[in-house]
Amino acid sequence: MQPYKGSRNAVESVIAHCPSGALALALGDTVTHLVADRARIEVARDRPYYVREAEVAEPHPGQGACRRKFLLCRCSKSGIKPYCDGSHRDQGWKSGD
Ligand code: FES
Repeated sequence: MQPYKGSRNAVESVIAHCPSGALALALGDTVTHLVADRARIEVARDRPYYVREAEVAEPHPGQGACRRKFLLCRCSKSGIKPYCDGSHRDQGWKSGD
C-alpha cells in the first residue's frame, strides 16, 4: 500500500468516496473504512452495482475488504461472485441498458 499525502480531510474524503471500498484509513495498527453516503444501491450503464451500508451474507474474499461499501457483479464474469472483481472491464462487458 502506498501512502497518500494530503490534508486529513482530503484523505478522508478520497477514502469515503472510493466506490469499491478498497481504500481505508490506516493510523498505526487501526484500519478504518469510511463511507460517505447512507444505504443505497447505484445502477449505472456498463458498471457493477455500487452498494453502500448494506449487508451481504457471503463474506468478501478480499483481505481487509470493506463490508459497508462494495461492488456487486452485474455481468456474471466475476471470479469472486457475488462481488465484482473488475472482469467486466477486462472482457469489455456492456450492460445494454
Ligand atoms: S460487474 Fe464487475 S466483474 Fe461482473
